[in-house]
Amino acid sequence: MKIDVSEAVSLLNQGEVAALPTETVYGLAASLNQPGAIKKVFELKGRPMVNPLIIHLADWQEIEAYALDFPPGFERLAEAFWPGPLTLILPIYPERIDPLVRADLPTAGFRIPAHPLTFKVLQETGPLVMPSANLSGKPSSTQSEHVEHDFGADFPVLYGGSCMRGLESTILYYQEPFWGVVRMGSLAPHAFQDILGYEPLNLAAATASKPICPGQLLRHYAPQAILLLDPIEMNLAPCLIGFKERAYPQDRRLLLLGSIEDPGEVALHLYQLLRQLDREGIAAAWIDMDFPRDGLWASIAERLLRAAGR
Ligand code: TXA
Ligand code: MG
Repeated sequence: MKIDVSEAVSLLNQGEVAALPTETVYGLAASLNQPGAIKKVFELKGRPMVNPLIIHLADWQEIEAYALDFPPGFERLAEAFWPGPLTLILPIYPERIDPLVRADLPTAGFRIPAHPLTFKVLQETGPLVMPSANLSGKPSSTQSEHVEHDFGADFPVLYGGSCMRGLESTILYYQEPFWGVVRMGSLAPHAFQDILGYEPLNLAAATASKPICPGQLLRHYAPQAILLLDPIEMNLAPCLIGFKERAYPQDRRLLLLGSIEDPGEVALHLYQLLRQLDREGIAAAWIDMDFPRDGLWASIAERLLRAAGR
């Protein structure tokens, strides 16, 4: 159900939950000051309590009220990338943030999203927790229709058009003396080179069995359809997912991710295509995994591997 900015503000201030657009994916918002609404976010999504939520704000100075300290480089990252698709995990004063939000961790994730409507909401409401607006384990929502599909036509959604990026924020965590990536996302590691003077290492891979980001352990982004990723499995699937420059067998349903030259376009279409499989009742799809693995492509590959349950 379409709502406007002032309706979103009043729902959130009254302790209700509403979906808001961001530049990455739609989020399921609750006020940081409304424990009942935060609990409802977990219930609505079917989200395990061990998976903490990101706190979204309009102004990074507000983080000072929660963070124990700002690690070296924090201010440069904040100035360069916020508002934008970056989440920073910081050590916090535990008594100042509901344990439910941070899954009892001594840290919390913070981000200023870059969507004009949601920015207006945040200026009125103050900090909001916002996981992606999808049922836990399913592909994230990049359009208002996706949110309504998962939570029902009557669920309040601030319509903000299609998300500009289509993949979640990149999450960085400071481990003396460097920042590292604990969730790959919309910003590729090389994006940080000029600001930090180095490319953050991928700690998501290094700590796979005990990830810093608890969400990395859980099944994610998965459609009902079986996803086949091996080139030799192409002939087994009734549907093929590939790139517009390439030729594929013509006797199958073909869905296009976009151009092999443009990972931004592919990121934008990824979740939408995974959702389309289920909407069309497709039982199995083969995905053309023959694409580069650098930059944003690495995030795309990670999402597809997880969607396929690998
Ligand atoms: O782009 C995004 O980040 C979107 C939009 C809505 O802002 N939000 C999003 O939230 O992707 P969610 O809940 O789907 O994913 C948040 C991830 C989870 O993997 C969670 O484990 C991790 O952030 N996370 C949150 N707080 C953390 C913390 N204190 N330490 C480590 N990981 C944390
Ligand atoms: Mg999510």
